Amino acid sequence: MRFKETILLLLCFSLSITISSGANTISANQSLSGDQTIISDGEQFELGFFKAGNSSNYYIGIWYNKLNSNPPTIVWVANRETPISDRFRSELKIINGNLVLLNESKSQIWSTNITTTTTIFNSIVAVILDDGNLVLRNRSNLVEPFWESFDHPTHTWLPGAKLGYNNRTKKSQIIRSWKSNEDPSVGIFSVELHPSSREFVSKWNGSQQYWTSGSWDGKAFASVPEVLLDYSYNFSYHTNENESYFIYFVSDPSIISLFIMDALGIIRQLAWLEDTHELNLIWFEPKTQCEVYSLCGSFGICRQSGSPFCDCLTGFEPRSERDWNQSDFSGGCVRKTDLECGRNVEKQDFLKITVKNLPLNNSMAVGSAGECRTTCLNDCLCEAYSFVGTQCSVWNGDLLNLSEDDGSGNEIYIKVDSKDVSHPKRSNLVTVGAVVGVVVGLVFVLALIFVLYRKKRVSLGKTTMEGSLVAFVYKDLQIATKNFSEKLGGGGFGSVFKGRLRDSSIVAVKRLEGISQGEKQFRSEVSTIGTIQHVNIVRLRGFCVEGSNKLLVYDYMVNSSLDTHLFLGKQVLNWKMRYQIALGIARGLVYLHEKCRDCIIHCDIKPENILLDADFCPKIADFGLAKLVGRDFSRVLTTIRGTRGYLAPEWLSGVAITAKADVFSFGMMLIELVYGKRNSVRCENSRITYFPSLVADVLNEGGDVLSLLDNRLNGEASDEEVTKVCKIACWCIQYEEESRPSMSLVEQMLEGVLDVNMPPIPKSFTLFVDKSDPVVFFTESPSNESSQIKESLDNLWQVY
Ligand SMILES: *[C@@H]1O[C@H](CO)[C@@H](O)[C@H](O)[C@H]1NC(C)=O
Ligand SMILES: *[C@@H]1O[C@H](CO)[C@@H](O)[C@H](O)[C@H]1NC(C)=O
Ligand SMILES: *[C@@H]1O[C@H](CO)[C@@H](O)[C@H](O)[C@H]1NC(C)=O
Ligand SMILES: *[C@@H]1O[C@H](CO)[C@@H](O)[C@H](O)[C@H]1NC(C)=O
Ligand SMILES: *[C@@H]1O[C@H](CO)[C@@H](O)[C@H](O)[C@H]1NC(C)=O
Ligand SMILES: *[C@@H]1O[C@H](CO)[C@@H](O)[C@H](O)[C@H]1NC(C)=O
Ligand SMILES: *[C@@H]1O[C@H](CO)[C@@H](O)[C@H](O)[C@H]1NC(C)=O
Ligand SMILES: *[C@@H]1O[C@H](CO)[C@@H](O)[C@H](O)[C@H]1NC(C)=O
Ligand SMILES: *[C@@H]1O[C@H](CO)[C@@H](O)[C@H](O)[C@H]1NC(C)=O
Ligand SMILES: *[C@@H]1O[C@H](CO)[C@@H](O)[C@H](O)[C@H]1NC(C)=O
Ligand SMILES: *[C@@H]1O[C@H](CO)[C@@H](O)[C@H](O)[C@H]1NC(C)=O
Ligand SMILES: *[C@@H]1O[C@H](CO)[C@@H](O)[C@H](O)[C@H]1NC(C)=O
Repeated sequence: MRFKETILLLLCFSLSITISSGANTISANQSLSGDQTIISDGEQFELGFFKAGNSSNYYIGIWYNKLNSNPPTIVWVANRETPISDRFRSELKIINGNLVLLNESKSQIWSTNITTTTTIFNSIVAVILDDGNLVLRNRSNLVEPFWESFDHPTHTWLPGAKLGYNNRTKKSQIIRSWKSNEDPSVGIFSVELHPSSREFVSKWNGSQQYWTSGSWDGKAFASVPEVLLDYSYNFSYHTNENESYFIYFVSDPSIISLFIMDALGIIRQLAWLEDTHELNLIWFEPKTQCEVYSLCGSFGICRQSGSPFCDCLTGFEPRSERDWNQSDFSGGCVRKTDLECGRNVEKQDFLKITVKNLPLNNSMAVGSAGECRTTCLNDCLCEAYSFVGTQCSVWNGDLLNLSEDDGSGNEIYIKVDSKDVSHPKRSNLVTVGAVVGVVVGLVFVLALIFVLYRKKRVSLGKTTMEGSLVAFVYKDLQIATKNFSEKLGGGGFGSVFKGRLRDSSIVAVKRLEGISQGEKQFRSEVSTIGTIQHVNIVRLRGFCVEGSNKLLVYDYMVNSSLDTHLFLGKQVLNWKMRYQIALGIARGLVYLHEKCRDCIIHCDIKPENILLDADFCPKIADFGLAKLVGRDFSRVLTTIRGTRGYLAPEWLSGVAITAKADVFSFGMMLIELVYGKRNSVRCENSRITYFPSLVADVLNEGGDVLSLLDNRLNGEASDEEVTKVCKIACWCIQYEEESRPSMSLVEQMLEGVLDVNMPPIPKSFTLFVDKSDPVVFFTESPSNESSQIKESLDNLWQVY
């Protein structure tokens, strides 16, 4: 039987002529099936069947032929919604002028759906082009294609493809996410052009917008200045009566580059770099995962520090565990126990959570907090309530876009079956009290709580010493900071407030956000940080951990942070001061990297994190915090906002972060010390000047380095020192980590112990130019042959 079937099948197949290997075309009398593929002329792209994830589903797709990635990097999918399971019995062929996919039982399950005149049916061919476009055209290739895959993008935007709005068909080209990394069917996130405002917007379920590029001003998008930082791309906008669209090209067409809308709603720009042989993340938006609207579906909650990001609220479980396991959270969560409408109100309880934003579509109700609760309890459609200020809001229907916040967010109470929540005693007792209405009981309970509370306070109420650190009581810090009223600054890890302790010393209190660590681990990490003491590092005086409140108390620095002087014009620092500041920071970093018990990578070196004391001696702040957040540094990255100008490229590529990432950021900061402005600035003509590349150019062309100097210094600086600082900066911002010197070498170069060689132009500006200059950071200073140099050289060789 089997055998016969096989013979029959084979016979069947021999009737249609199959594709010869290496061809780029499917002609009218040919079909493609099984493992056959067609490959574009320049061998960039390949089309054929591929399997998504672990399922047994196959799809027709286009992928990069040259990237030997496994799974292949798919850029287009034909039958997104209609997979097949046996690729050997399915066929892709041209029938009546259309390219169609036939499934195992020869039913048409996908088609290009165009109408052409029958006279040219036989001359129609499907060709895969070298830019990744699959076109259906006349064999003679003299007329426009009848159909092209570039007009029907899936989750990828390739260079040379138009992305926009067709005014004749009134349709937008919409990039739609996959449902999950293992399922190419249409997911819930999309990105499209809004032609009227010339901006791209990311949407949830085709409606709720959660990210926008900002309007295009002819050179850049208002919210995406980075586009121009990279000379390798050119974006342009075109509009006429037929269509409005964006298109981009890569200056070197052999470069592999693409934008994708990923399954979790983030737009990623990837590029393949010759030297790393992998696709690297170049750019992405939104910068934090939980900004993606309703990532976790209804009754799901997004945690930026979570892995996975989504969780169901207490008392709820994933609607589809299978989807959830594949990181498709869009289905959200459902109740473990349905609420029995109208009955058993006493079996219902409320779960209090703190969220960043209250969900949309609430309705208002009147009354006190207690009445608000009762209103919701008595309305069987009510799913949740909140009471903010004096306003009661209730929600009927699914709660979307919940994002955890353990700081000063909004409280919302979710109705749940009481057996699904393990609530603290207090609320349980209060519930009983409220329902039964026994006033005496309530008073008793309240009295009991009061006593318990007092007792707890007393045991906590003392500020004690833990090692060299003071363990503060929250209340004391609240008083010291006048209830956190005088904000000094903010950052990726929380805001900083000025405070005055009882002994009238002035401190800076950092209220940490998004630290999910338990108290014990937090204490141990903090005590490690407490042992770090160096003249160029801000001293940690103490901490406070009470419940979700985690605070760090530092010495207060009178002269604020470096950025206020460099960019905000607080006080012009003369060149000598700047040089000393650079040296001080270098010494602080050497200490962090090499001299403490555990090597500490700062991860967020930038002028905001350099504080200046009364004598303008620099002190590094915010060290060790990455450690508090946990080992998963890529998560840290997504929480560090607005720091991009200082981030080393390896942050984006996902490889392990070493101390060299700090060296990169230090290099960027050196440039700013010279220049007195941010390393990238947008000028009046809205062009972006990327200063590091200017520095590299001036150095390499032997130009006038003093022309790079901050105008406010009127050229009053040592030519030699400025040159040296610029050279060191260029070494520090080399693309490859190995090409950057260690901080101790940097320190020695700044001290003048070592001379600095001419650095190559950092690859980040010539990202796609394959240059492999030999790496020699310095030559020995003839005047100084100390053992220090030998030691450094030895260190250097250890790098290789
Ligand atoms: C396929 O058809 C085209 C024209 O219809 C013809 O030129 C070509 O020779 C055919 N190929 C084969 C292998 O029969
Ligand atoms: C894929 O399936 C195999 C066996 O069916 C299993 O061992 C493997 O863990 C699965 N991989 C993923 C990523 O689910
Ligand atoms: C092929 O597609 C048709 C129409 O969608 C469907 O009825 C049939 O079950 C499919 N055959 C197989 C083997 O999946
Ligand atoms: C082609 O048209 C048919 C019916 O008009 C429709 O069901 C199908 O979804 C269309 N296919 C594509 C790929 O647009
Ligand atoms: C299509 O190509 C054939 C030759 O292959 C040519 O005779 C015919 O005129 C072309 N048709 C169009 C519409 O260009
Ligand atoms: C998405 O929108 C459609 C209507 O456009 C609606 O029917 C559907 O329920 C929405 N999906 C979710 C998950 O809310
Ligand atoms: C789009 O087409 C309509 C006619 O179909 C025309 O009136 C309108 O001006 C066009 N829009 C643009 C932006 O050209
Ligand atoms: C718009 O489309 C019409 C019909 O195809 C064409 O004649 C016209 O040249 C197009 N206009 C532009 C600006 O491309
Ligand atoms: C963008 O670059 C491509 C290829 O380098 C070039 O053909 C095109 O003219 C450029 N477009 C613009 C608007 O600069
Ligand atoms: C959804 O939640 C995110 C994160 O809290 C927030 O930034 C965004 O504004 C919310 N969107 C809406 C429409 O409320
Ligand atoms: C989901 O993952 C969990 C844990 O890995 C596993 O126990 C469960 O069987 C999975 N469920 C499904 C439906 O795949
Ligand atoms: C919120 O209300 C608007 C209109 O009132 C409706 O279009 C939208 O679907 C609702 N959203 C949800 C999540 O219920």
